[in-house]
Amino acid sequence: MCGIVGCSGTSDAIHPVMEGLARLEYRGYDSAGISYRKDDKILNHKKEGKLQNLKDLLEDIKPASTTAIGHTRWATHGKVNDTNAHPHSNDKLSIVHNGIIENANALREFLKSEGMEFLSETDSEVFLNLLTLNFNKTKDLKQSIIETFKKIEGNSAFLILNKENHLLYSIKRSAPLVCGVNEKTSDVFVSSDPYALVGFTSKIYFPEDEVLCELDFTKANELVQFYELDGSTSKRFKIQEKEVKLDVVSKGKFEHFMLKEIHEQPELIKKLTKIYFSESNKEQLARIGKESFPYVHLAACGTALHAGLIIKNYLEKYTQMRVHSDFASEFRYKSPKLNSDELGLFISQSGETADTLACQELCAENKLKNYSIVNTEGSTLYRNCDENLLIHAGIEIGVASTKAFTQQVLVGNLLAKAFANKLSEKEVIGEFELLSDKIKNLLAQEEKIKNIAREIYQHQGFIFTGRGIQFPIALEGALKLKEIAYVHAEGYAAGELKHGPISLIDENMVNIAIITPDLYDKTLSNAEEVKARQGILLVVGEEGNKELEEMSDFFIGLDFEGLDDTVPVLTNIVLQLLSYHIAKLKGTDIDKPRNLAKSVTVE
Ligand code: M6R
Repeated sequence: MCGIVGCSGTSDAIHPVMEGLARLEYRGYDSAGISYRKDDKILNHKKEGKLQNLKDLLEDIKPASTTAIGHTRWATHGKVNDTNAHPHSNDKLSIVHNGIIENANALREFLKSEGMEFLSETDSEVFLNLLTLNFNKTKDLKQSIIETFKKIEGNSAFLILNKENHLLYSIKRSAPLVCGVNEKTSDVFVSSDPYALVGFTSKIYFPEDEVLCELDFTKANELVQFYELDGSTSKRFKIQEKEVKLDVVSKGKFEHFMLKEIHEQPELIKKLTKIYFSESNKEQLARIGKESFPYVHLAACGTALHAGLIIKNYLEKYTQMRVHSDFASEFRYKSPKLNSDELGLFISQSGETADTLACQELCAENKLKNYSIVNTEGSTLYRNCDENLLIHAGIEIGVASTKAFTQQVLVGNLLAKAFANKLSEKEVIGEFELLSDKIKNLLAQEEKIKNIAREIYQHQGFIFTGRGIQFPIALEGALKLKEIAYVHAEGYAAGELKHGPISLIDENMVNIAIITPDLYDKTLSNAEEVKARQGILLVVGEEGNKELEEMSDFFIGLDFEGLDDTVPVLTNIVLQLLSYHIAKLKGTDIDKPRNLAKSVTVE
């Protein structure tokens, strides 16, 4: 969600902070700001809107400092404006915050009664003011941070800069935050995502929750000190010294990251089998093959949940396991009955989604074995699970998830087959390669999809329908369209239409019906019902099917020959392209759609 970056050292801190913010901007982009020490003062610059607005401001100011903190915001409390942007600061302290302070209102009232003034509408300023009040009394910053943090309820991460010296402090509860050091220069860093620090650090520390980190670049050995909330030294952190290369993230010849990521899919699919069937990785699937669980609890959010619903289909097809799947935000509050011989299965691109992490914690507390299907190696989910199946999608920048969905589904297919000991390398490689080729063919027909988008983009309502394994694709198609094109779209199980939603059908409503050979007749009748009510019918079906072509207003034919489990991946890519082109015609901000953030680290 919000991006946090801080740096302190002997050389320029502004550049790494701004570069880190640029790398994290896709996660939250309402406003951005930076604070730094200069001549024993704290200077603060904040700007509503994209990071570029802040960059433009700094062009004129030309800040110089060796200690700085910065933030890109995704608003939770208070409007999107310069004042509510982070950092929040006064003449002594400056803070940036990611998360939600749940008892902010009560604390604000208390602080007002103590004479503290509030400039912004944010909950974050409550932390600043409480910290300042404590610091004014104790004059001990470390102790004041601990005392303040103890009073804060909810999940948050904070980074604190002070006027007096170069020390940076950070602390978190169920929100991502890492520390980094460059062992050559002794520069120290903090960020909400290690990706922001690639190239700047040689060592990354992953502190656990409620561990206070003190970063001091002048210390001879340990540039980062860790403390428990009782002030004692803490050992609750992990270290990563592995050299991480910065994925080259450019749009290349594409106008948007989303389009580039859609086009990356054929190659990523081929790469996936190479990785999973390589000598070093085969062992993981073999190990999984020895496991068996009576029950699987599957939790995820958004697109990752839609991938999960397809994976549920695979698990039910290939194994005897019973599978319960739910939105992570619902699962955690439903008192699920969790037994220690069961499996928790979590799907996530970022590995930092707050609700998904909370479900994993709940399963871990109940002694279940936890597996992830995840893109980000080293993320919190990755670190907390017993077994991680990486999806190898590479960094996904477009807020609308595309390639991660495809890879999640395919890795889920490998998982289900591995559990069932039905994983034939030859067959899997055969189907995945065929799928990859068919996606290439589909991408070559993009112009056709673009033309259909042109015909329908001005309509106000879209209903996506599918049955069986295509039902999650209907949900995903609708999510993608509303996410980036800002139009009303819903996904339904086709058989549910006549139980209510059919009343929405008229000559202005577009029904995007996915009609594949599976459950063909039933799905066809549902589409007929739409046609009978003058709905506009766009069918995604098997190429050469005259019946479908004749009944529909628009038809996108796909070659399913030789595909079995992977048909939904192919139909979904049609919907990815359709959403993209509708959004483009509408002129929305495709890679950074309004109100969204790439990684949702608050509940
Ligand atoms: O990082 P995650 O996969 O856990 O994220 C889950 C959802 O927030 C995410 O899939 C979201 O729905 C996407 N923006 C959809 O395109």
